[in-house]
Amino acid sequence: MIQVSAPGKLMLFGEHAVVHGKPCIVTSVDQRIEVKANFNGANELVVNAPQLGIKDYKQTVMQLCRQEMPKQMCFIEATVKRFYQKYGLKKGLNITTHSQFSHTFGFGSSSAITIATVKALSLLYQIKMSNKEIFDLGYQAVLDIQGVGSGFDLAAALWGGTLFYRKAASVVEQLKIKSLPLIVCYSGVKADTPTLVRQVAELKRKQPKKVIRIFNQIEEITFKAKKLLEQKKWRELGGLMNQNQKLLEKLEVSTMLLEKLIKAALNAGALGAKLSGAGGGDNIIALYPTNKRKKIGQALRKAGGQIMKVKLNSKGVIFSIS
Ligand code: MEV
Repeated sequence: MIQVSAPGKLMLFGEHAVVHGKPCIVTSVDQRIEVKANFNGANELVVNAPQLGIKDYKQTVMQLCRQEMPKQMCFIEATVKRFYQKYGLKKGLNITTHSQFSHTFGFGSSSAITIATVKALSLLYQIKMSNKEIFDLGYQAVLDIQGVGSGFDLAAALWGGTLFYRKAASVVEQLKIKSLPLIVCYSGVKADTPTLVRQVAELKRKQPKKVIRIFNQIEEITFKAKKLLEQKKWRELGGLMNQNQKLLEKLEVSTMLLEKLIKAALNAGALGAKLSGAGGGDNIIALYPTNKRKKIGQALRKAGGQIMKVKLNSKGVIFSIS
């Protein structure tokens, strides 16, 4: 039995611009997804994923991704299909997943499942794969399903820590960070990332000059943030978060609810606050001075947010074999 776990992710700087070739900074969160895999002696893929509402889902190996399937199954099935195609395999498998977090929270459960599944299969079949090979296979599977995305979430699940990242893992730089004084607050609204990514691409098509200028400004902020994070210059970093948020508002991905939470955090003494991820919902992050942490948390709750108790900068994919 192979057991693999991969962490979720939280975008810090550079969302949307990263889809268009700019860098971003992402950190991994200690909410993990576990994937167990073993051979079942049949020619079927059998999946159990209780938190995703999947019980004894069966599909013959030759039929993978050929039929309609529950949405949550897509990532597992597309990943197994890509893996089996690449290495010419056809043995039946049992896959069981266990999630420490709900897929509604925007921590990237699909990307964590994808990476954990590739890693589990490589261990089960004893196929040596470098991290870049694992990433590439996972990225192909995600693109098969979503058609869009930078792959930053897969990188966080795989390498872990806090990463300076460019699309398709063309750059993956581990940042030297010990602490990240951030409060993560869920807005209560689930965001649909592919829709928002397409919406920004459409805005770029209609107003290329404006949007390219915004992407360039986000890039500049991301480069500055990378240095300030390592130097722990929190006050300046907070200022950059606020600037990044204003640019995301210009990209039309922010919402009144997110801005209400951001304002509540800033009024309670946060050094900076912004939405994290695609926008439209999901989470906001707020940078806190130690003495204001409690007050900011209270203000966010009062404004309708849900504080997420997560540790950031956590380990990438890990495994055990029994
Ligand atoms: C979504 O969490 C972040 C985006 O930049 C999409 C992506 O990078 O794939 C909007």
